[in-house]
Amino acid sequence: MTDIRTPLCERLGIELPIISAGMGPISGPRLAAAVSNAGGLGVMGCTTMAPEEVRTYIRRCRELTDRPFGVDLILPARVDRGGARVSDVASQIPDEHRALAESIAREHESERAESKDQGPADDRMALGTDAEAQIEVILEEKVPVFVGALGSPGWMVERAHAAGMIVMSMVGNVKQAIRVAQDGADVVVAQGTEGGGHTGHVGTMALLPQVLDAVSPTPVVAAGGIGDGRGLAASLVMGCQAVWVGTRFLATEEAGIAAWMKAGIVEAGDQSPIISRSYTGKRFRMLPNEWTKAWEEAPIDPLPMPLQPVLVMQTLGGMAAGSNPALTQNGAGNIAGLIEGVVPAAEVVHSMADEARKLLGGWSWQSTQTKSE
Ligand SMILES: Cc1cc2nc3c(=O)[nH]c(=O)nc-3n(C[C@H](O)[C@H](O)[C@H](O)COP(=O)(O)O)c2cc1C
Repeated sequence: MTDIRTPLCERLGIELPIISAGMGPISGPRLAAAVSNAGGLGVMGCTTMAPEEVRTYIRRCRELTDRPFGVDLILPARVDRGGARVSDVASQIPDEHRALAESIAREHESERAESKDQGPADDRMALGTDAEAQIEVILEEKVPVFVGALGSPGWMVERAHAAGMIVMSMVGNVKQAIRVAQDGADVVVAQGTEGGGHTGHVGTMALLPQVLDAVSPTPVVAAGGIGDGRGLAASLVMGCQAVWVGTRFLATEEAGIAAWMKAGIVEAGDQSPIISRSYTGKRFRMLPNEWTKAWEEAPIDPLPMPLQPVLVMQTLGGMAAGSNPALTQNGAGNIAGLIEGVVPAAEVVHSMADEARKLLGGWSWQSTQTKSE
């Protein structure tokens, strides 16, 4: 049988080059442990959590698996000690933005989902201001893998290495890739624009070879629009050492979102997801809803991060916590059109690996390296 283990798998101590993406509280201990137990690497998204909640998540994950796993944080561009306070940020929100947000919320407040499965109560949107304290917990707990998104993890790499951790960094273009590799990231995760969640401008197929060339010999993990064994096989042949998969894992039994959100992803086609700045202030790929449509049609633009997420938190609060399809953010990438049902996460891991092995025939990591020399 074709061996799809790469040198990065050896380094991470995993069997299969499949990593489940950090996706806020959607990717909690249940999903991460299921992926790690299936032979991949499960990563938990902890950006919106208080430091002690991060510790609880880590310890829960350790109860569910004895295999390696990771924690992902969206890092601020600049790490402020103590961080910005919500009250300071809120005072900068213009009246017209607050009025618009409140009128959309009022108009749709009764459109609650009938399903009892409302998903996690997460009304604390990402400010990314607790990063230093969250990192302290991650270091103390000696989490095997740390993944930083948006900002560079350069300021914490040395301490992470001293704690025996592997540091990955997510990027959306070549410039960022070079920067994080120079800052000491052990692995670069390159995500193309078709990915769900925060997203850049360059497509995965164009991004990967350029990042591979730019940061060699730093290992590169492929992300954005990968949802089956064909995407995995293509990424390995290109020279990537693993895939980082988000949207495909949303439609799994272990993902921490409401049933109606999973159904929306299963029903979505390739063109369904849109890019909206109306939740986080940054480009976020998701399925459209009444909130995104109203901001699209409004004469004013959403505010930059962190103003827009504070406005969302203050206006939608718990209403956006999985209970209201008109107002809840439902992130998804263009690969959603490929997803036909909600299955256990282990099934996603195994079917991707089996399909890739079949497609790759006699391929091995060494053969790719020799041919591209
Ligand atoms: C709903 C959702 C939430 C996400 N939240 C995060 C996050 O908290 N941190 C992060 O680094 N990336 C986040 N992402 C991006 C993923 O980590 C990943 O890069 C992306 O989903 C890969 O593309 P794919 O969706 O096509 O698989 C999110 C993606 C989705 C779909």
